[in-house]
Amino acid sequence: MSETQEITVAPASTDLLESFRECLDSVSRERIYLNRLEAPSCSEMEERFAAGVRNRFMQDWATHGDQVVGWALVMPNDAFGLTHSSWLALGVRRDFRRRGIGRRLMDGVIEKAWQSGLERIELIVWSDNRPAIDLYEKLGFQHEGVLRNFRFLDGKYTDAVMMALLRD
Ligand SMILES: CC(C)(COP(=O)(O)OP(=O)(O)OC[C@H]1O[C@@H](n2cnc3c(N)ncnc32)[C@H](O)[C@@H]1OP(=O)(O)O)[C@@H](O)C(=O)NCCC(=O)NCCS
Repeated sequence: MSETQEITVAPASTDLLESFRECLDSVSRERIYLNRLEAPSCSEMEERFAAGVRNRFMQDWATHGDQVVGWALVMPNDAFGLTHSSWLALGVRRDFRRRGIGRRLMDGVIEKAWQSGLERIELIVWSDNRPAIDLYEKLGFQHEGVLRNFRFLDGKYTDAVMMALLRD
């Protein structure tokens, strides 16, 4: 990896979809952070991406050259009475962590969410995921509850923490 090449944060685009898939796959295969163990197939990724565009998802990708190394996604909720609210997903490739990329991605999509009129961003994070919880707390997300024994993986239960950020 070239240390001199800059990280760019920009809206997701179809030309980098395969690289995004690799990025999602690598974080998924770490097993402990996401609720998937590998990325969906290429065709499923294409369908999901198209659905995201239709549903006005706000999705930024961090790139290093032409490699996607991180993502942040805000998905507006279209359910009755919940359209002020949204769901957030985030990840950075292991070898690119602790360089401020997660923070940059979060700042960008949160700003877009507020500009689009959303008033609430929520997420669920495993209770042992200290890096992510620290980042969310720094950005003002508050703990809203614990989902006990929410995950059962490799013979072990893990709680999940519900967190949310309100516009004001
Ligand atoms: C959570 C994650 C996105 C953070 O990305 P990142 O680019 O490493 O984060 P940043 O470098 O922008 O760090 C921002 C803040 O996050 C917190 N943080 C990040 N890594 C941390 C770590 N290993 N330990 C403790 N705090 C950490 C710190 O508060 C940090 O601020 P600081 O640098 O001033 O101390 C990254 O660790 C990741 O992709 N993890 C795996 C996927 C995941 O957990 N996604 C979230 C699922 S809910």
